[in-house]
Amino acid sequence: MLHFDSLSVREWPDPRTTRPHVLPIYATSSYDFEDIEQGMRIFANEEQGHTYSRYGNPTVEATASKIAHLESFDTGIQAAGLMTNSGMAAIDTLAGGLLKHGDKILTQPNLYGGTTELLQKIVTNRGIEVIYADLTDQDKLSSILKGDSSIRLVYFETPANPTLACIDMAKIATVAKEHKRLTAVDNTFATPYLQQPLKEGVDFVIHSTTKYLNGHGTCLAGVIIGKDEPMFKEKIWNYMKLVGSNCSPFEAWLVYQGLKTLPLRMHRHSSNALFVAYKLADHPKVVTVNYPGLESHPDHLIASRQMKLFGGMLSFELEGGIEAAVSAMNRLKFCSLAPTLGDVDTLVLHPASSSHLRVDPEVRRKAGISDGLIRVSVGIEDPQDILEDLLQAIN
Ligand SMILES: Cc1ncc(COP(=O)(O)O)c(C=O)c1O
Repeated sequence: MLHFDSLSVREWPDPRTTRPHVLPIYATSSYDFEDIEQGMRIFANEEQGHTYSRYGNPTVEATASKIAHLESFDTGIQAAGLMTNSGMAAIDTLAGGLLKHGDKILTQPNLYGGTTELLQKIVTNRGIEVIYADLTDQDKLSSILKGDSSIRLVYFETPANPTLACIDMAKIATVAKEHKRLTAVDNTFATPYLQQPLKEGVDFVIHSTTKYLNGHGTCLAGVIIGKDEPMFKEKIWNYMKLVGSNCSPFEAWLVYQGLKTLPLRMHRHSSNALFVAYKLADHPKVVTVNYPGLESHPDHLIASRQMKLFGGMLSFELEGGIEAAVSAMNRLKFCSLAPTLGDVDTLVLHPASSSHLRVDPEVRRKAGISDGLIRVSVGIEDPQDILEDLLQAIN
C-alpha cells in the first residue's frame, strides 16, 4: 500500500471507455513506455510512438495532418505537416531545415515585414544570403537561377501582405523546377480553401495559423506543409525538434477547432471584402484600393486563375496620405485597430507604423507600402456595418 504522499503524486489510470468525440488536448511533455526496449525502438524509429512532446504530440500532429490534407485535398499528393509555435517559427524552421551556410534564398521585396526582417537580420547571420527580385518576371527569374547555383530556395507570398500583389505560382514552380530549385510560399492570406500551392507545383507551404486557420484570434501558431515526406522528416522535423520551435498542444487545438468553419468563414470574408472593395473604389477620397477581386487590380487575372475566391484582405490609400489615414483610423467605431488579421471581426492596421515599421523605408516604398496605406482584414459581420464605419471614418 502506497503512502499518502506517493498516492498524491501518482498518475491515475485513464478511466475512459469510449472515445472522446472531439480531439483532446494532450497536455503532457512525455509518454510512458511499456518497457525500456520499447523506448529504445521508438527513439530509433523502429516503432511508431510518442516519446517527448518536442518531438511530437498527438494533438499537434492531428492538427498538422488535417491542414496537410486540406492543402493537398483532391490533388493526389501525399503531404506532411509540422506545426510550429508561430508563423515566424514556421518560416525560420523551414529555412533552418533546408539551408546551410553558403546557400541563398531568392525572394520578393514586398513580403510581410516580419519575414523581411527575419531574413535580413537573422537568416543572413547564418551565412545564408537573401537576394531580392521581381518574381513576376519569369525570364529574369530563370536567368538569376541559371547564373547562381547556390540559390536553393525561392520564397514568396501570394497575395502579399499588405499590397495584395499576386504571383503566378505555377509559373514560379515550373521555372524553379527546370533549374532544380525548391519553392516555398506563404499561404496565410488565401488559406487552402482559396488556393492550393502544392497543386501548382510549389514544394512547401507555410502559414501563420494565428490568422485564418484559427480564425478567432485566440492563439499563435504556424505550420509547414511539404510533399516530400522523407526530406520533411529528416531535415525539417529534425531542425524543429532540436531548436524547439514546436507548437504547444493547446494552441494547436485552438487551430483545430477553427479549421471546422474555415470554408464558411472564407466565403463570408471574401464576399464581404469584395463588397467593401467595390464601395471604397468608388469613393472620391480613396486614391487606390488593393484587392485582387477588383478587375482594376494589376494581378486580377493571376488571382482569378489560382484562387477560388479573393479572400478577406484589402488595403487602400486616402487622398491626404498619412495624415488622412491616421485621422480616419482614429474615427473608427465598429472596426478594431488590432495588429493581426484573419479573425472573424474586422481589423484595421497601418502597415508603415506596425507590421512593416522595421523594414527599411526605401524598401517599403519600392514595395508599394506607402506611409498612407491602410490595411483591412474584413471580418464576417454584416458587410453594411463594416462599410458604414469605414465611410464615416473617411468622410
Ligand atoms: C503573411 C504573414 N506571414 C507570417 C506571419 C507571421 O506569423 P506569426 O505572427 O504567427 O508569427 C504574419 C504575421 O502577421 C503574416 O501576416
